[in-house]
Formats: sequence, structure tokens, C-alpha cells
Amino acid sequence: MGCSLWAPLDILTTMLSNFFFCLLSAVKLYLLGFRVLLAQLSNKPLRLPVMPRQDGKVAIVTGGGRGIGYEVVRHLARLGTHVIIGGRDEQEGLAAVRRICEEHKEAKVEFRKLDLASLQSVRQFTKSFKERDLPLNILINNAGVMLLPEGRTDDGFELHFGVNYLGHFLLTWLLLDTLKDSGKCGDNSSVVSVSSSAHGIGEIRLNDLNCRQHYSAHAAYCNSKLAQLLFSSHLHQELQLGGFPVISCAVDPGMVDTALYHHLWTPLRMAQSLIARLLFRTPAEGAATVLSAALSPALNGDCGGGYWANGRREMTTPPSFNPQLQRGLWEVSIQLLGLQ
Ligand SMILES: NC(=O)c1ccc[n+]([C@@H]2O[C@H](COP(=O)([O-])OP(=O)(O)OC[C@H]3O[C@@H](n4cnc5c(N)ncnc54)[C@H](OP(=O)(O)O)[C@@H]3O)[C@@H](O)[C@H]2O)c1
Repeated sequence: MGCSLWAPLDILTTMLSNFFFCLLSAVKLYLLGFRVLLAQLSNKPLRLPVMPRQDGKVAIVTGGGRGIGYEVVRHLARLGTHVIIGGRDEQEGLAAVRRICEEHKEAKVEFRKLDLASLQSVRQFTKSFKERDLPLNILINNAGVMLLPEGRTDDGFELHFGVNYLGHFLLTWLLLDTLKDSGKCGDNSSVVSVSSSAHGIGEIRLNDLNCRQHYSAHAAYCNSKLAQLLFSSHLHQELQLGGFPVISCAVDPGMVDTALYHHLWTPLRMAQSLIARLLFRTPAEGAATVLSAALSPALNGDCGGGYWANGRREMTTPPSFNPQLQRGLWEVSIQLLGLQ
């Protein structure tokens, strides 16, 4: 009797708490976006420094069929890098390859199927890559999803966590030996994780990485971007400790006018597309920081790493430096992926 009286109240409390969690997460992200946009407007437009040719080098760029990734591929190919686009959409990927090859006749670009929402696809992609015995000098973990309705990857992970973070974790892990073999002292290989300033309001709860307690698409995106940063920083330290010629860094490309915003609530989407045309960075400007992070350390022979934004290395928020959180997330990820 008592139970049945309290049950509707419990349901109502849960619904209200979910509603407020979603609302708060959305407000936090939009306020952050507003602040970032203001800061971006006061910064000078980003220009890519002149980079020397990269002939003989090989790069993998995930999600390189459009947006920021496409511009990264285009520029690397122009510098002579052999670039492999890892992507889900074959038509889009092949169209990107065609466009780049039309623009630069000698470009060496190819598309290979990679779905980061499937661990099997990640394993298949790395297996085929390794069978070719190519070096790997640059890995750009760029592909990403934002504000998707609640959903799961093929392996049952929350979509933002699974695609933005865990899929890239596995990809990097499986390619690490090739990256190590391909780097040289003074000419390190690099792993660049394309994160976002949204990491600053992310939260990592090791006991609820799949957001089963509460789901907010806004929070899930921010959390996945923080996870990428923690991963990138921990990986860099491990590589430095082991003395390997590989650097790992994370990048915030800024607010860039791309299809990433397609899942915004329709009225917001309409306002965003207007504002974006005027005030957001172009994909090429977004790519500038990614390319600087990937190429500058190798060129300058410094030890690389860190967090890059606005075309240079910058400081970031304290949770990203928390070594316990970094190690905790690393260990849980290894368990979730069944590695070691
Ligand atoms: N745009 C911004 O303002 C902004 C700001 C901060 C950070 N970023 C980050 O920048 C990165 C690039 O985003 P963007 O702005 O260029 O967006 P975009 O144009 O939507 O590009 C995202 C790319 O990721 C690919 N992708 C999505 N799910 C995938 C999956 N399961 N497997 C393989 N590839 C997948 C997409 O391909 P398909 O969906 O066609 O498969 C697409 O090529 C993302 O990590 C994003 O979080 C962007």
C-alpha cells in the first residue's frame, strides 16, 4: 500500500531531476559557447605557419571526409604526406579524395572504411593498415559526434563516449607500435586528439562513463571531450617515460562552421547557421591549430604534448591534470576494451 502511494512521486522526482540535469547541461554549454565566441572574435584570424614538405610521411586522419578533418587532409597532402582518411561514409570519403587529387595532381590520399562506433571496424582498419607495412608518422583522432539523442555503439557504449573517445583509444592503442617505430629523435611521430573547449565543463564519473544514471546529450559531448584530453595527457607522459619518439597532444579547433552542429534543436540550429556564417571559424582556420600541433613539435624538435588552442600551446582546466583521474580513466578504458 505504502509502496504504491510513493511510486508516482518517485517517478516524478526522477523525471524532474533528469529534466533539470538536461537543462543545466545545455545552459552551461551554450554559455561556454558564447564566451568562446567572444574570445575568438578578439583573436586575430588564424593563419597556418609555413610548413616544410612532409614527403615520405604517412598520416591517418579520422573523419577526414568533411569539415575540419578534410582541411587537415588537404593540407597534409599538399605538403607531400601520404594521407589515409578513416571514415564511415564511403561516398563522402571518396568524393573528398577526388577533390583533393583534382586540386593537387601529385596528392597521395586514400579512403579506408572505419566506423569508430564499432570496435570490430577499428580492429579491421588497423589490421589492414598494418598488413601494408607502411610507417605511421601522424595520427589525427579527429572524427566526432555532438548532441546525438541517447544511443549505443555496436558494443553497447554511449555514443559520444564510444565514438569520440573509446574508438579513438583503441585505434591509437593498436597503432602505437607503428607510431613508435616511425618516430625518430628530433622528428617525433604525433598523436593529435581533436578535443574542444567543451572539455572544461565535462565531468568524468568512472562508475557511470556510459551516462546510465542521467542522460544529457550536451553533458555526454563535454564528458567525451574531457576524456580525450585526459587520455592524450596520460599517453604523452607514458611515452615520455618510456623514451619513445612519439608525442601526444590535444587540440581545441575553436568554434568552426561545420556539420557538427546538425543535431542542435531546430530553432537553435537555424540561429546557429546564421551566426556561424558570420562569426565562426572556417574549417581551414579550425584545421590550422590541429596542423600546428601535429607538425610544429616534430619540426622544432621539442617534446610536444599539451593542449593547443588558437594556434598555440595553451593552459587548460585543472581536471585535465589530475593524474589519479587520468590513470583511473586509462585503466577502466583498458578493461572496457578487453586489452592487455
Ligand atoms: N566544429 C566545431 O565548432 C568544433 C569545436 C570543437 C571541437 N570540434 C571537434 O572537431 C572534430 C571534427 O568535427 P567537425 O567540426 O569537422 O565536424 P563534422 O564536419 O561533423 O566532421 C565530423 C567527422 O567525423 C566523422 N564521424 C562521425 N562519426 C563517426 C564514426 N562513428 N566513425 C568514423 N567517423 C565518424 C564524420 O563522418 P560521418 O558522420 O559522415 O560518418 C565526419 O567526417 C570533432 O572531434 C569535434 O568534436 C569541433
